[in-house]
Amino acid sequence: MKKIIIGNWKLNLDHLQGIQLLQKINYSLDKDIEEKIDIVLSPSHTSLRSLQTVISTDNLKIKISSQDVSTYSDGAFTGEVSAMQLKKLNIDYSIIGHSERRLHFNETDNDVNIKLTRLLENEIFPILCFGESLEQRSEGSYLEFIKNQINEGLKGVRKDKVNKLVLAYEPIWAIGTGEVASIENIVEVLDFVKDLVSDKPYFSDETVKLIYGGSVSPDNSSEILNTSIVDGALVGGASLDADKFVDIIKSVNL
Ligand code: PGA
Repeated sequence: MKKIIIGNWKLNLDHLQGIQLLQKINYSLDKDIEEKIDIVLSPSHTSLRSLQTVISTDNLKIKISSQDVSTYSDGAFTGEVSAMQLKKLNIDYSIIGHSERRLHFNETDNDVNIKLTRLLENEIFPILCFGESLEQRSEGSYLEFIKNQINEGLKGVRKDKVNKLVLAYEPIWAIGTGEVASIENIVEVLDFVKDLVSDKPYFSDETVKLIYGGSVSPDNSSEILNTSIVDGALVGGASLDADKFVDIIKSVNL
């Protein structure tokens, strides 16, 4: 299966810095690499339009993701951005349920489920993040917690709406800490999630990608990305550095 590498820029870079980083990444990649790996950049909302314009003008193969989407379609919801508005910008993906949004903005599994539905209605591929806290891991309740996040997040999803769904395992204790999960941890959780979703009507190896995120760097990416159950990576800090991000992409054995 084609791997996917997503750069989550979080609340960093203005749109001019974003364009520079996009161009630097593109320049450092082999011409045909995007045929073999899906490369996705996720900037702030303010940069989506600028990056998308560069991509279409220069005919680049890199794809763009938003970092969030509203649960609402339209109306009196000051500050919100809808899936339909993102679709009009030709945005391909959107991250939902990132632990930072769950923690700082009280995003619930129900919100994640509504956002997922909005994205699917607008043919945007959801990148649904899930993963346990350190406490849940040490208590041993992490698989139960993850099962609930996945089942609630995917509730009511219709087969005919799902073209591509990315499920990103991001243990909270590994995000931005430099403490990457072990391969055994990653394989255990992704195997578990694969079992969980494999009886869903939309599941196939083509529609559902299982990826890992949390302190992915050029030092650990080869082992992670070349493990067969791992379909890709969601990269935070290292995606802000073109050289590191490109090294991560190049660590995939093609
Ligand atoms: P990190 O972030 O790579 O900086 O740990 C990953 C993420 O939050 O998506």
